[in-house]
Amino acid sequence: MSLSGWAFSNLAFERDSAAPCRIVLGENQGVAMATRPYEIDEMISAKSIAARIEDLCRDIQTEFEGTDKLVVVGLLRGSFVFIADLVRELDLPIEVDFLEASSYGDGMESSREVRILKDLRGTIEGRDVLVVEDIVDTGHTLNHVTNLLLSRLPARLKSIALLDKPSRREVDFKADWTGFEIPDEFVVGYGIDFAQRNRNLPYIGKVRFTE
Ligand code: IMP
Repeated sequence: MSLSGWAFSNLAFERDSAAPCRIVLGENQGVAMATRPYEIDEMISAKSIAARIEDLCRDIQTEFEGTDKLVVVGLLRGSFVFIADLVRELDLPIEVDFLEASSYGDGMESSREVRILKDLRGTIEGRDVLVVEDIVDTGHTLNHVTNLLLSRLPARLKSIALLDKPSRREVDFKADWTGFEIPDEFVVGYGIDFAQRNRNLPYIGKVRFTE
């Protein structure tokens, strides 16, 4: 079964977590967890991720060569490991900022709404910006965030996602750089969670329920 169908009908899902197991009751009303035992099968090794990041950083450096400063914007929370590895591989003058977005659905995915929970600390007008996301799934989050940041008139804005699930796309959006295209599977690790768990795995793994 693919978890990323997220078809647990008529429930509101919090974007930054593994939607099928986290039922958002409403703001400040708490969270009910429905957990089932599962195993994690490795899908992308830590070594493959590191090698891919080296390639991506070469391209990013070429794109932003000569920049006076690149503002690297991480989307919390899933991108925190990716952005940490990315910036250490980039030989450019950089600044790091973070933004947290949350998208909710009512079980009808086309009605997804993206909300900004935490905005940037700095201004980006006239600056070079790289937005860093963990996964592009339906595309709503990164589409919304890039449009928002573009409205602030950066000099250049590019986006990068570690993972992309093209088969899940609902809006016409593609990051400028993608680490790996993956099938419609629910994944964890390398910063990505399942109900706030498994972010600390060094690799990307696929969730497989055992019951
Ligand atoms: P979307 O592109 O707006 O649908 O949302 C992308 C966000 O959904 C990601 O940043 C993740 O937080 C979350 N997400 C999508 N697929 C997965 C997954 O397989 N595991 C964990 N989180 C996921």
